[in-house]
Amino acid sequence: MRRRPVLGLVVALLAGAVSAVGAPPAQAEEPFLWGVATSGYQSEGSAPDSNWRRYEQSGTSSIEEPYRNAVDFRHRYAEDIANARALGARVFRFGVEWARVEPREDVVDQAELAYYDDVVDHVLAAGMRPMITLDHWVYPGWVADQGGWDTQKTVDDWLANARRVVDRYKGKGAIWITVNEPTVYVQNEIENGGIQAWQAPWMQSRLVTVHRRAYDLIHQLDPGAMVSSNAAYIPGVQAALDATFVDHVRDKLDFVGVDYYYGASLDNLSAVHGVNGEFWKIDPQPDGIYYVLRYYARKFPDLPLYVVESGMPTDDGRARPDGYTRADHLRDHVYWVQRAKADGMDVIGYNYWSITDNYEWGSYRPRFGLYTVDARSDPALNRRPTDGVAAYRSLVAGDGVPAGYRPVKAPAVCSLVDGLDSCLRPAPYPGPLAPLG
Ligand code: BGC
Repeated sequence: MRRRPVLGLVVALLAGAVSAVGAPPAQAEEPFLWGVATSGYQSEGSAPDSNWRRYEQSGTSSIEEPYRNAVDFRHRYAEDIANARALGARVFRFGVEWARVEPREDVVDQAELAYYDDVVDHVLAAGMRPMITLDHWVYPGWVADQGGWDTQKTVDDWLANARRVVDRYKGKGAIWITVNEPTVYVQNEIENGGIQAWQAPWMQSRLVTVHRRAYDLIHQLDPGAMVSSNAAYIPGVQAALDATFVDHVRDKLDFVGVDYYYGASLDNLSAVHGVNGEFWKIDPQPDGIYYVLRYYARKFPDLPLYVVESGMPTDDGRARPDGYTRADHLRDHVYWVQRAKADGMDVIGYNYWSITDNYEWGSYRPRFGLYTVDARSDPALNRRPTDGVAAYRSLVAGDGVPAGYRPVKAPAVCSLVDGLDSCLRPAPYPGPLAPLG
């Protein structure tokens, strides 16, 4: 299973130097963009040849169990989209898999494109906006054969695929995510042998290039669309990680996309469990999301902020020993997003990761789904609601937590999410709440 913080830091230190600074356009959206998220490889099943399919089949260090058929989103998307609609969600995030659309170089699989057409149609018919990820860490096997991100040719091929996808889904109100969590992408490629550690700066700079060009391409083909990438926030080292990607694309972002899962504070250093992949043992730290938003609001004062991913893993669906549930996690995080908004941060959206459990890059054990699925043992792959479903539905309906809500988890003692700043300038608590509508 992948391990984030330590290697991520190493990758940051290996960063190449590419520079670009400018003033991005700001564009606030109304109403608040409540969303749910998923990704191609993790959910779809029927996996075509790709880097990840190969990692799984050759059993790299990330792989703890076989992929099987994931949760068969490929054939059950209508149900997942209907479930998202029933939550009241306004955004449905999914990935269009390059490996599926172009399984061999220059050979486009029309049936797979028709499948994505139908996904988009279902999302629109449900009254939601598609948030389309162009690259959620997966590329076709033929791209792996040519060296993956170690070759410049992949940049051109990636952009040709991006053009095809954007051209097909332009004019539909899509929000575009170019590259999912670029820093973790690089880290995973190193861990699974896609590249060697010393090649990281080249991969980083190629991801910067594809983002910058895709940004322009999308604005040319789909004028008015919102485009970004999402940063995986790692407490304490984010500035170093930003130096490998986001600092080089700051003039090519329409909003700041942030993913927040795990915090750190003087009274909570449980993030250390991430080092050996036991993410479910990490004690959630909801107030951390406030400091993540404050960090990026300070860094990009002219850009709106969007929480592209937020979620909590359980140990194979078991109740947490401390009794903290998915519903608690959701309400507590939304509370702190509302606190951020009340304190002047321009937060425009929040996606929950994920609509269903899925293949967590080598294992089904960490489960993040609002709907839980026994991918190993249930051939019917039934979607069963967790307590997060009812909680999310009322959060959306009320544009936030009920008045007077107090988080189940108390604020951290000296949060280190934004280094010393979050410790020395804690958010006033309880403090004012702004509705997210
Ligand atoms: C990724 C997802 C992953 C989630 C939970 C994010 O890093 O974008 O693919 O499942 O975190 O670990």
